[in-house]
Amino acid sequence: MPISVHAETSTFHLYNDEMSYIFTVREGYPFHLYFGARVPDEQEFDYLLGEAWMPSSVGLSAACPHMSFEHLRCELPFSGAGDMRLPALEAVLATGSRVLNLTYREHTVVPGKPALSGLPATYVERDDEADTLVLTLADDVAGIAVSLLYTVFAGRAAIARSMQVRNTGAAPLVLERAMSGCFGLERDDLELIELAGSWARERSVVRAPLHPGIQGVYSLRGHSSHQFNPFIALAEPGCTEQAGEVYGFSLVYSGNHAMTVDVDTYHSTRVLAGISPEGFSWPLAPGETFQTPEVVAVYSAHGLGDMSRTFHGLYRERLARGAWRDRPRPILINNWEATYFDFNEEKLVEVARAAGDLGIELFVLDDGWFTNRDDDHGGLGDWEVNTVKLPSSLAGLARRINELGMEFGLWIEPEMVNPETRVWREHPEWVLHAPGQPLRPCRHQYVLDLSNPDVVEYLYDRLERVISSANIAYIKWDMNRSLADVYSQTTKPEDQGRVWHAFILGVYELYQRLTARFPHILFESCAGGGGRFDPGMLAYAPQAWTSDDTDAVERLKIQWGTSLVYPVSSMGSHVSAVPNHQVFRITPLKMRADVAYFGTFGYELDATKLTEEERAAVRAQVAFMKQHRALIQYGEQYRLKSPFAGRGNECAWMVVDEESREALVAYYRVLQEANVGRRSVRLAGLDPSAWYEVCELRADASSSRLYGRPASGAELMRIGLDLTDESAGQIVSGQGDFLSRLFKLVRVS
Ligand code: GLA
Repeated sequence: MPISVHAETSTFHLYNDEMSYIFTVREGYPFHLYFGARVPDEQEFDYLLGEAWMPSSVGLSAACPHMSFEHLRCELPFSGAGDMRLPALEAVLATGSRVLNLTYREHTVVPGKPALSGLPATYVERDDEADTLVLTLADDVAGIAVSLLYTVFAGRAAIARSMQVRNTGAAPLVLERAMSGCFGLERDDLELIELAGSWARERSVVRAPLHPGIQGVYSLRGHSSHQFNPFIALAEPGCTEQAGEVYGFSLVYSGNHAMTVDVDTYHSTRVLAGISPEGFSWPLAPGETFQTPEVVAVYSAHGLGDMSRTFHGLYRERLARGAWRDRPRPILINNWEATYFDFNEEKLVEVARAAGDLGIELFVLDDGWFTNRDDDHGGLGDWEVNTVKLPSSLAGLARRINELGMEFGLWIEPEMVNPETRVWREHPEWVLHAPGQPLRPCRHQYVLDLSNPDVVEYLYDRLERVISSANIAYIKWDMNRSLADVYSQTTKPEDQGRVWHAFILGVYELYQRLTARFPHILFESCAGGGGRFDPGMLAYAPQAWTSDDTDAVERLKIQWGTSLVYPVSSMGSHVSAVPNHQVFRITPLKMRADVAYFGTFGYELDATKLTEEERAAVRAQVAFMKQHRALIQYGEQYRLKSPFAGRGNECAWMVVDEESREALVAYYRVLQEANVGRRSVRLAGLDPSAWYEVCELRADASSSRLYGRPASGAELMRIGLDLTDESAGQIVSGQGDFLSRLFKLVRVS
């Protein structure tokens, strides 16, 4: 993945086999030229600068009045220089000025990818996996030096960008905006795709044409949020799963974010991604450096599916870290929906015994195991085991679970605190709370000030003690409220603008320390379901609870939307009881499992209440998952039929192994329709010249060959997999509503 630097023309070309990213330095400023499909390397691409000046625009300088920032695509737009759009860098200097002038100083190309201090980021394991260009700009008057980092990966159509800002002057300054990356596209014929939602309906795919002005997504909640994931894509109209150009932008960050698309009136589009400037104001003393999070930009000429698979591969292999990155994930049972807060040790052991008997590998004890926690009004913050509920404490309970042949996992919610806890009484100053203002509750709880290193130390200490007290194999790290009253009582008034970001740095620090201390433990992140399902979290916890909504029908949309960026191996997905606890729908056990298989599989129900028939079915599901989890966890996912299309009655997706030898295809139909015609779905990712045996897998673990003969990859991808319901036309003995069908394809020689 070379980074070509043409010294004579100051043109930088970052490329691999999949894409090119080109910019040039003119008059001392770096201007973007091209981002897209790979083009041959050339000395110069100056004509791509475009119209550098238009009537009434402000010139670059007196020496260069006929170029204007406004009509060039700046790699680093900064405040005060006539760019006239939202900048990537804005600083208030000691003089009160926000006028900056950052010019090119030097560049270096380093093999591999440097780590970003204190922040999660993509990485490489060997230096030949990526090259990084470090472009340094400086403004000697303002006393600012900026390094722009660009990493291009071998074999991935992705580029990672971030920025370091140093105060090189003698006076303090304040950063008001420090975005991770700015991307200029010389077109506006694109549609904005975002993942919008709310609690229990996270990450719906929303798509709308761009228009002049600013559009985009953001979070001002202190976490990446259920509402807007830190991701946007810009797709050509008509771009489908399989075809068309698309640019995806994903921010590796878990706090307040802003992903804006600014379309000017000359059909030029600027994407800015980074920490939300709202509430951000970062004092930088002389000699200090600020490192932004990174943004990953992916280009595809082959549709949304290809874009997603680039994100999946990168995030699964080079963002997730640790022992569990590549290990098969355990099939778990979580007691939350089985018992909520109403349990004791015997009840838990009963549920675990029933689950272990079905082949389930890990028992997770959710909320409610600590003192003063019989409902969600109290207890958070002290992290003392409730030995009335659990007389053998965690160590004894874990031992009993282990004796059943299962691993033991535990729920924690480190960032939160309830009133009337010991920690609150002893350290009221550790709670985020503005002087004299009311404290605003959410789920009866408040937020600890993780921008304060003492709080991080306290939490590390308490949780380290809890986790090391028992044989714990898994931790579910929850975070059940958004931040408000964001004021750090232990921080100087002039540093309060740091608190939102410093809070999330504290969260990362705690994650870093606990995952380093317990490298054998599988961490799963969670935030009231999927309120912090973001790339930052994936760096510490390779899987995340996708949503509190476990209804099979709702999950089709939630898992489809999530899969735009995040791999199957990251999506916690469990079979729960019916009527479902979120929407009260009754779906067949088969459909619930057929949906949950496409994630990190588990159960969220009381296994002691299953009927004999259900136990047999669950046993078969668990066996199926064990047999197929490698294919599901490491395979490539192809989305085939969108639940967001039309009336959303159908959905289909599949996973294929790397060599296209084996595939699993799932088709779901929410409601039965009367008198329907032939149905099929075109598959993807197969070898067109290979032949596949196609079997339908049934709930009782039996299977039947579909065509009575092998089918070619070409047939399955071009004509499609036949899904015609035997009962179509006349309902004779059809499944009715909530149909799910699972097919296995195996290449035959
Ligand atoms: C959140 C999580 C749930 C469960 C509860 C416990 O809502 O998403 O899975 O852990 O908290 O309070």
